[in-house]
Amino acid sequence: MSDVISIVSGKGGTGKTFTAANLSLALQKFGNQVVCLDTDLDSPNLAMQLGHIPEDKTIEDVLRGDINELKAVNVHGSGLMFIPSSLPLTNERITEGKIKKMVDRFSGFADHTVIDAPPGFREGFYNSMKVSDRMIVVTNPEFQAIQDVRKIADEARKHNVKIEGVVLNKVEGILEEASRHEIEKITGLDVIQTIPHHNEVRKSIHKMQPLVADKHSKIGHSFRELAADLTGKRFRAPWYSKIIRSLRKLKGE
Ligand SMILES: Nc1ncnc2c1ncn2[C@@H]1O[C@H](COP(=O)(O)OP(=O)(O)OP(=O)(O)O)[C@@H](O)[C@H]1O
Ligand SMILES: [Mg+2]
Repeated sequence: MSDVISIVSGKGGTGKTFTAANLSLALQKFGNQVVCLDTDLDSPNLAMQLGHIPEDKTIEDVLRGDINELKAVNVHGSGLMFIPSSLPLTNERITEGKIKKMVDRFSGFADHTVIDAPPGFREGFYNSMKVSDRMIVVTNPEFQAIQDVRKIADEARKHNVKIEGVVLNKVEGILEEASRHEIEKITGLDVIQTIPHHNEVRKSIHKMQPLVADKHSKIGHSFRELAADLTGKRFRAPWYSKIIRSLRKLKGE
């Protein structure tokens, strides 16, 4: 029943966790049951981006066999369910069998399971890919990062996993960047959303409040649009959001 969506990238720091948190929340706000799973055990950030300090009920507790998958489900104030990864490093590792068991369990009650994957082409990437129905690749408009997107596209083809498309994040609109058209041509994938490089993102991460929680954030609207596209719905930003953003700017907020 569930739809398992992995958020992946070759290069680190492209904005996977930012995308996983905001997309999960946007899917949840459309009335879906969503579980978001942090599988980046080396550098876990998902819980913090959702305003939570993971102390117990972590993915490591499940991997160690101390608690079952359901006991590890944490609930965000919005109702979004998530499984954090612990801040201190442990010796636990995720195997394909273990992640499969987890997502199978979540599929029993969730409409969507979103996996925040680790960067690179190691075990974590392949485990996420193998249990996914579809993947979203997050990249920045740098030619080196885009070569990695190509590699992901090749691997997905080999393993017969669908790539929904590319989220092009941290766009500054400078000449040295790869354009949407170039990225689509190089990777053979569609760019399904474009997010600017904006201080609002840093602020939201610092405040531990995803931008989707702000009804009038333009970037928040981009994630709502993406969630609507992924679920065959339509999203229209409120007509007065622009006015509210201008007023906030005038007030220096
Ligand atoms: N659109 C954006 N504009 C400005 N800063 C951004 C944007 N997206 C992400 N960032 C910044 O980039 C950093 C990395 O983002 P994030 O942690 O989501 O990336 P990641 O791909 O999950 O990283 P990792 O590969 O380490 O897991 C964050 O600290 C965030 O402040
Ligand atoms: Mg991350």
